[in-house]
Amino acid sequence: MTTEAAVVDLAALGEDFTRDPYPVYAGLRARGPVHRIRMPEGYAAWLIVGHEAGRAALADPRLSKEWRNVSPELGIRQIASGVTMLSSDAPMHTRLRKLVAREFTMRRVEQLAPRVQEITDRLLDEMVPAGRANLVDALSFPLPMAVICELLGVPFLDRDTFRSWSNTALAATDREARMDASAKMTQYLAQLLADKREQPGDDLMSALIHTADEDGDRLSREELLGMAWLLLVAGHETTVNLISNGVLALLAHPAQLAALRADFSLLDGAVEEMLRYEGPLETPTYRFTTEPLEIGGTTIPGGGELVLIALADADRDPVRFPDPDRFDIRRDSRGHLAFGHGIHYCLGAPLARLEARIAIRSLLERCPDLALEAHPAALTWRTGMLIRGPESLPVTW
Ligand code: HEM
Repeated sequence: MTTEAAVVDLAALGEDFTRDPYPVYAGLRARGPVHRIRMPEGYAAWLIVGHEAGRAALADPRLSKEWRNVSPELGIRQIASGVTMLSSDAPMHTRLRKLVAREFTMRRVEQLAPRVQEITDRLLDEMVPAGRANLVDALSFPLPMAVICELLGVPFLDRDTFRSWSNTALAATDREARMDASAKMTQYLAQLLADKREQPGDDLMSALIHTADEDGDRLSREELLGMAWLLLVAGHETTVNLISNGVLALLAHPAQLAALRADFSLLDGAVEEMLRYEGPLETPTYRFTTEPLEIGGTTIPGGGELVLIALADADRDPVRFPDPDRFDIRRDSRGHLAFGHGIHYCLGAPLARLEARIAIRSLLERCPDLALEAHPAALTWRTGMLIRGPESLPVTW
C-alpha cells in the first residue's frame, strides 16, 4: 500500500529520546507497526515496533544481515570486522554458528559458574570497603569483560584499551571516530590471533585456530577475526547493561528489591524481568530488505533498505505484557525478545544470565543497604539506538 510514510525524525528528539525512548516508541506503536525514521546516527531507516511485528521481523528471511545487500544510497558502512554469524544469512550463518555453538550450551556455561563467582567476589572485595562506587566501572563492566577475555584468551593488560575502542565503535555518533576505533580493534585482534597461532594457549581462540568440526570444517583467517571481534564485543557490551539496568530497576523499585532480598528463589525470574523491562539492546544490529515487505498495511521497499526492530518496544507492548511499564519481578516475562528470536537468537544468553544472576545476588548480599546516589532522571545514557544502558551508575551502601 503506502511507501510514502512521513519521516519521524528521532535525531531531532536529542537527549530526551536517549534518556527515555519508551514513550516515543509507544506513540509510534499506537499508529502502526512500521515507521520511516531518521536515526540519531543520521541514517534513514524503517523502524518496526510492537511485539508481534518485531518477533516476525526478527525471523524473516527477506531481511538480510549481509552487508553486501545494503543500498549504497544509505551511505552506511559496516563497523564490525571480518565475516561473522551475526552479519551473515543461512547457509553461511549456519556454518559459522555451528563451529562455536558447543562452547556456549547451557551445560558448558554452567561449568563456568565457580569462576564467574570468583571474579565477582574479587571485584566486590575491591569495591565494598569504599562505601560508594560507580557500579558500571566497579562491577557491571569488569565482570563480563573479565569472563569473555578469559574465555577467549585476551591478556588482562589490554582490557581497558579494548573497552574504549569497543565503546566508541558501538555507541559514538561520530562516524569517523567509530571507524577509527573499529580499525584499531581489528588490528589488535589480528596481532593477537597471529601470536596465538605461534603460541597456542588454553583458550577458545587458540582452540578455534586449530580445531575443525566433525566435517573437517575450519575458520578462515577472516572468519576467525570476525568471530573474535563478535564474541568479545557481544560478550561484554551487552551484559554490562543487563547488570546496570537490572540493579537500577531494583533500586528504583524498593518493594521489588525487598521481595528479592527476602527470597532469592525469585532471582531467575527477576533477571528475565530485567531483560524485558530494560534490555541491553534497544534495537539489534542492522537488517536489509532483499525484497519488498508488507507489514501492517505499509510496504517497505526491497533493494537494501535499512530495517531496525525496536526490541525495547516489543517487550513493552501491552498486548503481550499487561501493564508493560510496571517492573514486576514476579510476572511471567517469558517470551521477551531481549535476546532476539530466530536463527540469530543470542548465542551468549546462558552466559549472560549466569553472570547477571551471580553479580546481582552477590552485590545485594555484600551491600545490604545499597542505594542510588543520583536521581534516576539525572543519569546519562549511552547514545545511539543499539545499546541501552547508563554511562555510569553511582551507588552507596
Ligand atoms: C544480556 C546480555 C546480552 C543480550 C541482551 C544479548 C542480545 C543479543 C541479541 C538481541 C542478539 C540477536 C541480534 C539480531 O538478531 O540482530 C544476539 C546475538 C548474539 N549474541 Fe548476544 N546478547 C547478550 C550477551 C551475549 C554474550 C555474553 C555473548 C557472548 C558469548 C553473546 C554473543 C552473541 C552472538 C555470537 C550473537 C550472534 C548470534 C547469531 O548471529 O547467530 N551475547 N545477542
